[in-house]
Amino acid sequence: MQPSTPQQQPWFALVTGAASGIGRATALKFAAAGATGVACLDVHVEGNASTSGEVELAGARALEVTLDLGDYDSIVAAYETVHQEFGRLDAAAHVGGYSWRGDTLGVTPQEWDRVVGVNLRGTFFCCQQALAIMYPQGSGGIVNMSADAAFDPIHGYSVQAAAKGGVVPLTKALAFEAARRGVRVNAVSPGITRVKRSGFVPDRGAPVVVPGGLAADSSEGLEQHTGAGRWMETDEIASVIAFLAGPASSGVNGELVRINGGPYPTLEF
Ligand SMILES: NC(=O)c1ccc[n+]([C@@H]2O[C@H](COP(=O)([O-])OP(=O)(O)OC[C@H]3O[C@@H](n4cnc5c(N)ncnc54)[C@H](O)[C@@H]3O)[C@@H](O)[C@H]2O)c1
Repeated sequence: MQPSTPQQQPWFALVTGAASGIGRATALKFAAAGATGVACLDVHVEGNASTSGEVELAGARALEVTLDLGDYDSIVAAYETVHQEFGRLDAAAHVGGYSWRGDTLGVTPQEWDRVVGVNLRGTFFCCQQALAIMYPQGSGGIVNMSADAAFDPIHGYSVQAAAKGGVVPLTKALAFEAARRGVRVNAVSPGITRVKRSGFVPDRGAPVVVPGGLAADSSEGLEQHTGAGRWMETDEIASVIAFLAGPASSGVNGELVRINGGPYPTLEF
């Protein structure tokens, strides 16, 4: 998507978290947009293979790469493989990660390290590796994944808010560094998005006692508390990611795009 004439020039995309949900939809979006190759990176091998098969059916070359976002060496190796196989990288969507909920008073240092490690540290090192490929090209678009839980507080999401919220200033700082090297870095923040999970399902924390609020361990009826009164669909998130990663958004850099159908209600009347 990065070259100005994508129909004539080969271009290559990468998606982390490609095995499932928003990442899977993004990989298919890149393929449908005419990517020459789409690298599907995920820790879940079977889900990743399934997405890769669909990418190939859509007419792009799929490159399946196993990646653990919590492991620095795994990140370096994955991007090396992509660079070796594709020779360049035009669009990188850093979608992989997960939400985690736990009572703040009970959070352990290990839980903090795990959640922040995958969602924030993993995003930083993916950006580092993508930029190392894109800087010599003088072009490229990166999109990072934040989450609305960082901006509209939900009980039990303090660690998640720190991890996904940190992605935003990280994105802006990298965009500043990258701007004069022809590379852009943006972020998206989805609202609650309907996902049929087929990737790795990690420990997502424990139910939280919420004083007079939502049932903490259930997503039943959650959409009623959003501005739009409905769930987002994965395709709605993938469309924005593909737009931000490609040349159609060439003037947008260091921005966060929230995709939730509208602001959340703050007053109950
Ligand atoms: N669904 C929502 O409502 C929502 C809202 C805001 C943000 N998000 C974010 O969107 C991203 C995609 O989530 P989703 O909703 O599509 O869920 P999902 O569970 O369907 O997809 C997440 C993917 O990340 C992969 N993953 C998890 N841990 C990993 C690790 N350590 N290394 C590599 N891959 C790993 C999983 O295997 C899976 O394929 C996540 O970062 C999530 O936090 C989701």
